[in-house]
Amino acid sequence: MLHDLKHLHSILADLPKAQLFVLTDSHTAEYCLPILADFIGKIPYHLLTIEAGEQSKNLASVQAVWDFMLKHRATREAVLINLGGGMITDLGGFAAATYMRGIRFVNIPTTLLAMVDASSGGKTGIDYQGIKNVIGTFTPPVATLIHPEFLRTLPATELLSGFAEMLKHALIASPKEWIKLLQLAQEELPQEQFVEALSSTGALQASIQIKENVVSQDPHEVGLRKILNFGHTVGHAIESTMLHHTTPRYTMLHQTSHGYCVLWGMVAEVYLSVVHTGCPREVLQQLTQIMLQWYGKPQCDCKQRDQLIQRMYQDKKNNANQTPNFTLLRNIGEPIINQYLTEEDINEALEYLFSL
Ligand SMILES: NC(=O)c1ccc[n+]([C@@H]2O[C@H](COP(=O)([O-])OP(=O)(O)OC[C@H]3O[C@@H](n4cnc5c(N)ncnc54)[C@H](O)[C@@H]3O)[C@@H](O)[C@H]2O)c1
Ligand SMILES: [Zn+2]
Repeated sequence: MLHDLKHLHSILADLPKAQLFVLTDSHTAEYCLPILADFIGKIPYHLLTIEAGEQSKNLASVQAVWDFMLKHRATREAVLINLGGGMITDLGGFAAATYMRGIRFVNIPTTLLAMVDASSGGKTGIDYQGIKNVIGTFTPPVATLIHPEFLRTLPATELLSGFAEMLKHALIASPKEWIKLLQLAQEELPQEQFVEALSSTGALQASIQIKENVVSQDPHEVGLRKILNFGHTVGHAIESTMLHHTTPRYTMLHQTSHGYCVLWGMVAEVYLSVVHTGCPREVLQQLTQIMLQWYGKPQCDCKQRDQLIQRMYQDKKNNANQTPNFTLLRNIGEPIINQYLTEEDINEALEYLFSL
């Protein structure tokens, strides 16, 4: 269930006797908790803060949540509020899904990426043995509460990271939203006005709704939900290649990776869509323009193309034959899942991406 943050009270009122816990990271404790505290009002709660950053999305943090709940004698009636980006909603969701076989949790996403993507859809989880999201559950929150005001303090790179997932949602589901986002991208608004425009144009709500619609039809990702992987076959390969590089050159990318990698992945996959599934070339030109204007180019050299293709073959989305599985587009709003392409095809798309 998606609501505005002002519904928090009525949601909590429906959960009588509930002991309330709030999980934040070190940044959301500073920037977002004071705002949430106003909404919580006089209801008492226990606060646990975890250090910000993807490196905290691990088993030790889950144990910290479990230990904290046990220390405060949390029962099965307890409710956990996850206040943060995808790191916190994934981690807190997993801790809640497993504590006493599952307690209720409310997601309050504070990054654009978490608002449009991570906080809904029911996937919870942690990274383990260096593998992203390898341990987790499908457990939906009792509610996801949206408050666009949180985006005001978000670093610009994080805003762009979430915007990439919004572009993805528009490309797989809605020509109308695509045009809206193209206009927003062209306007080059200062951050405050951009954040304002995301809500006033309805773009934010529409993007959230696209994800919700897809997930509600295929909650466990057996078919349709794969359309949400658009851009992610190439994107994940770029992301993991960046993560495996420790040279200073990639430090920035390491921090800003996911949405940027998805954007680059989408450029390659729209290229493949133009060649193989008849997507109009105009879409490729529009997306390439956004990339050059806002995201820059991926810092990979030509020699890494083989490595990227190798990573696509190792991707967990592949079938038993381990052939990279793509979601491509026939047009905007017309995705087509389970597309298998040859190494030569993929190489050609990467060549386009790196030639820009
Ligand atoms: N469950 C899903 O379906 C799903 C989908 C997509 C991504 N994810 C997961 O989400 C995570 C990425 O999410 P993310 O990009 O939100 O990262 P994040 O949670 O690490 O947040 C990014 C940074 O922004 C800071 N921050 C958060 N809100 C802020 C605010 N309002 N003002 C200032 N700073 C703020 C955080 O402290 C952090 O430093 C990954 O772990 C990814 O695996 C999950
Ligand atoms: Zn993504």
